[in-house]
This record gives sequence, C-alpha cells and structure tokens, in this order.
Amino acid sequence: MTVEDKRSRYSADFDLPVRGDTITAERYISKDWMALEMKHLWPKVWHLGAVTAELEEEGDIVRHNFGKDSIIMVKQADESIKAFYNTCPHRGNRLILGDVASTPRITCGYHGWQFDPAGTLVHVQDPDDFADGNPCGKLHLTELRCDTWGPFVFWCMDDDVAPLHEWLAPYPERLAGYGLDNWVRVLNVSADCDFNWKIIRDNFNESYHLPTIHPELGTFINDGLPDTVFEMYPTGHNAMWMKGHQATTRKDHASGEVPAPLDAIAAAWGVDPAAYKGHTGDIRQAVIEAKRKLGPDRGYTNYDQMTDQQLVDYFHCTMFPNLTLTMSPEQCQILRTEPHPTDPEKCVFQHWCLYPPVKGMKEIETPVGVAPLRHDAIHRHSTYGDGVSVGYVADQDLSIGTTQQQGLNSRGFKGFHLPLQEKRVQRFHELLSDYVMGTA
Ligand code: FES
Ligand SMILES: [Fe+2]
Repeated sequence: MTVEDKRSRYSADFDLPVRGDTITAERYISKDWMALEMKHLWPKVWHLGAVTAELEEEGDIVRHNFGKDSIIMVKQADESIKAFYNTCPHRGNRLILGDVASTPRITCGYHGWQFDPAGTLVHVQDPDDFADGNPCGKLHLTELRCDTWGPFVFWCMDDDVAPLHEWLAPYPERLAGYGLDNWVRVLNVSADCDFNWKIIRDNFNESYHLPTIHPELGTFINDGLPDTVFEMYPTGHNAMWMKGHQATTRKDHASGEVPAPLDAIAAAWGVDPAAYKGHTGDIRQAVIEAKRKLGPDRGYTNYDQMTDQQLVDYFHCTMFPNLTLTMSPEQCQILRTEPHPTDPEKCVFQHWCLYPPVKGMKEIETPVGVAPLRHDAIHRHSTYGDGVSVGYVADQDLSIGTTQQQGLNSRGFKGFHLPLQEKRVQRFHELLSDYVMGTA
C-alpha cells in the first residue's frame, strides 16, 4: 500500500479548495464573534423547525425558540404552513409560550389581542379607541419564509436566500430514494450543553474521532480512509459515505470471524456469519442481496428505490451551518446544535430520529432504547451531564464538548492543525468566516 492509498479520498466531482486560514479559539469564546454570527449568519440560512406530522390541522402550531428569537409555524386552512415571529404587534409580548399548541385564535396573554392562523388580527379590546380606526383585519403578525422538504418544515428570516430546495442541494435529489416523506419521528430529545455550538459541528464534519470516541462502531462501520468518500458542495454542505455492514479496515477484522454485532445483523437477514470467516468484508454484499430479496416481504417498501450503497451504507449529510442528517435505509438521524441566547460557551443540542413505517412493526430500537413506533414516543429535554442519555453515540460525542471548550480557552492554543481528512472542518470555518465578515 502506498502513502496515497492511506490518505483520505475526496470525490473528484465534489472537492473544493480551501485557503488555509488559521482557525483560532476566538470564534468559540468571544461574545463579539457570537454577535456577528447572530447578525450575519443565522438570518441568512434555512432552519429546520418542525416535522409536518406536528402540523396536521388548521391552527396547529409548533414553536421554535432560536437564540433570543422565537418562531412559530402555523398550519393553514389550505394545507400550507406559515411561519411568524412569535411577538405581539401591540407591545411585543411573546405570544405562544409552549413548544406546541393548537388554536383557532392565537391570543396574546397581555391585553388579549387575537390573531387567526393566517396571522391577521381579528379581535382587540376597545376597537374604536385607535386613531386610525379598528386595526382588525389590517394588522398582521410578522411573517417569514416557510417551506417543506419531505417530512421537514424549514423557516428562513431572509428574503434573498435561495429557495429551500435549491439551498438544500444536492440532498433532495441524493436522498430521494430513501422515501423520507412518511417517516415517523420517534425520538425527539435535546440538552443544554456547556460548549460553543461549533464544537459538535466540527465533530460531525470529520470521522477522525471514530476510533477513539466510538471504538465499537468499527465492528460494523468501515471508517478506514481508503473506503470512505468525502464530498463538498458549492452550497457549503458536505457529506461522507461510509461503508456499513463491514468492519473497519483500520484493524484486521477481515481475516477472522465476523465481529459482533455484525454477525447478528447479518443473521437477521438470513446470512450465515460462519460462512464469511476469513473474508468478513464480503458480508456487506451478501446483506445487499438478502435485503433486495427479503426486504419487501418484511414491509420495507422503501428498499425498491434505493441503490445498493444506500441499502447498507451510512450517508452522513452535513448541511451548512448546523444540521446533520445521517441516513441508513431504516433510520434518519438528525443532529444539531444551536447557539445559546447570550453565552458563546453554551449551546442546545438536539437529536431526532425518524423511521420508515413498516407494516406490523410496533416498536423500534432507538439510540436511547426500544420505543413504540409512533410520533415523539421519546420526547425530553435535559442538561448534559445530568445522566440523561441523548443517544449512546451522541453521548460519546458530547463527552468531549466541555473539555474541548476548556482547552480552547487556554492561552497555549494557537489554532487548528488539521489532517487532510478534516478539510471539511477547514472549509466550514472558512465559509463561516465569509458569512461573519459579510463576504459570503
Ligand atoms: S402586547 Fe399583546 S395584546 Fe398587548
Ligand atoms: Fe461522533
């Protein structure tokens, strides 16, 4: 094997140059930098706000608190969804105070003004006591852009940002085969964390940490560099294709027995692990064939549209700046960090998992254990470190968050020194700099 063979691989079609800017700790600890992000970054991107299953009937509402702001998404009579800033045009009181609501009238708790689901003022106390006449029918909640992709609802504060489907490119096309539209969000957990939002963002932009932070994943996911493909897109998003149903090539698993839990995963598809002793890497192809043969009868109607790669591998999709979707045929995992309203050294971590509906399946194995296969079967918010799991792999990722934040505060830290495979980390920070400096 040559040195080249051991290096990371960027897809020739989806590689982008980086400048090599020095990435220092300032962006993780400075209130000034945080203020620039609030001004120049967050209003200029689409934000995932809800899943469509939460917004079925006219007047159904989902609230998304973001930084110091708050957005509500409201189902309309014509089936569309509108988004509004969650603030009363009278004197600014916040309107919706819970995560979800359902009401024909959004009613302000201060002086009782009422708005219909389309955001139009429909009732005020003392309507004749206004210099310009009754404001009902004339005054509206401040609306912002809202659109959907598959089961997801997004909002955006800026009118000049590209339309959602264009902004998401190439994911709507690349992920079409999974048939995400009717998948069910079973897991919906979040946690307050003591580190900057970008710490976990960086973590999701590389796989360099897998052997140390998630050693057990190497028994069924091949994180070996020659087998992993990295991609970077002009939109700022990037991706990583990692072979599943195959042990890592960083160690010699290939010439021995099929390691656990890959042996059980294969056996569940009728593939005998004993037959792959000494050539365990071949079990991936056997599982592809078994899934093609048995999948439809087992209720996996979504397999038909998938490529072989999608049937067994992990497609890790990172959307600029703070959203990650990790796709397998049986799970869509959403991982995200959002900034704290005022403290650059804190963030909110969110973890959703969606699953395809499978006829007859009542329960599903989630990253925090078995749960009923229904909307938000597990829904909770915690403080990281209090012992409440946000998912076993996510717990491992978060475990380095606080210590990295502490280390970044050291006078001795001079800036990142990255291997080639972390080019996506470099690219993320350079694009972030462009946004923050207003040159993106
Ligand atoms: S602030 Fe909302 S009705 Fe007065
Ligand atoms: Fe990780």
